Amino acid sequence: MKAVVIRKHGGPEVLSYENIQDPKPKKGQVIIKVNYCAVNHLDIWVRNGLSGRKVSFPHILGCDVCGTLTHDFGNFKKGEKVVVYPAIKSKTPRVSFTIIGGFGEYKGGYAEFIQVPRENIIKKPVWFSDAEASTLNVSYLIAWNMLERSNCKKGNTILIWGANSGVGSAAILLAKAKGINVITVVSDSKKARLAKKLGADFIINRNKSDVITEVLRHTKNDGVDAVIDHVGAKTWPVSIETLKVGGRMLACGTTTGAEARINIRTFYSKEAQIIGAYLGSKSQLVSLYRFMKLKKIRPIIDSAFNLKDVRMAHKKMESSNQFGKIILKI
Ligand SMILES: NC(=O)c1ccc[n+]([C@@H]2O[C@H](COP(=O)([O-])OP(=O)(O)OC[C@H]3O[C@@H](n4cnc5c(N)ncnc54)[C@H](OP(=O)(O)O)[C@@H]3O)[C@@H](O)[C@H]2O)c1
Repeated sequence: MKAVVIRKHGGPEVLSYENIQDPKPKKGQVIIKVNYCAVNHLDIWVRNGLSGRKVSFPHILGCDVCGTLTHDFGNFKKGEKVVVYPAIKSKTPRVSFTIIGGFGEYKGGYAEFIQVPRENIIKKPVWFSDAEASTLNVSYLIAWNMLERSNCKKGNTILIWGANSGVGSAAILLAKAKGINVITVVSDSKKARLAKKLGADFIINRNKSDVITEVLRHTKNDGVDAVIDHVGAKTWPVSIETLKVGGRMLACGTTTGAEARINIRTFYSKEAQIIGAYLGSKSQLVSLYRFMKLKKIRPIIDSAFNLKDVRMAHKKMESSNQFGKIILKI
């Protein structure tokens, strides 16, 4: 089969488009012909490598897959469209998941075929195209999980970093559909215009204004009920500062680094909570699909690349030149 393989960690140049052997069927697993695989920031982490995290080379990236079953099993029929729930219970103590195509042994969806455990298959919801269905199982799932755990109700206000990111754009769409007021942060005027189109109520250009000042001005000095922070080290201190008394910060990412300096006094004196979020459950994924159908939400797709052009897709994400999801057509 055609696949994009990495044999060592490094820049986009380590992504090698080549012919490799098809996966050999293993007990308890199914083989799927991949139709689309979305690009996620995790793919960049795995490609670059992270200290203390292992992959077995040659490795195949890609955790967000929509495809077609190659065999019957159980109630599933050969030729049926499916999506892959990407989380597998971790063997590492005190870590919840291993992610297919992430760090660990499972090869991902940058390939014509992928092999995954049977329990990770979900029938593709008919109301999404294959391309759309490949974008929901990571960014949209984590955004949905964080919104649920934020405990935000209709009329509450949430701060969402990075309107153009996969996670940020998903969180804005889902939060607005739940009736939550959204403040979001962008880095230029083009991204601000697109954030407005998504429905964000108040948009801060972080290169022109101070985020804390603007959030406090907009909330009449109250602060926000919750913050969705996927950016990490650079934004944690700001996120905590903008929370109201009893506010919740949902943390899922470390795009700008994993070690933040925060003011602990600020944190406890407002009785804030920091809540870590890692993907979400399979049942949350199914409830997300239903919610999106009910609210007629379509995921935001920035661009589609052919698998052989994967290096361009990675470069686009690394330069943060996207608005919404980047996907690979296999
Ligand atoms: N825990 C989980 O289960 C889970 C699931 C999915 C993703 N994640 C993590 O969440 C993060 C986002 O993923 P993604 O796929 O959505 O990434 P992405 O599409 O590449 O977006 C990255 C975002 O970070 C913003 N950003 C970069 N530097 C910034 C700074 N100094 N201040 C403010 N914003 C900054 C960018 O905004 P500009 O373009 O304006 O610079 C952009 O919106 C990644 O770290 C990823 O690993 C975690």
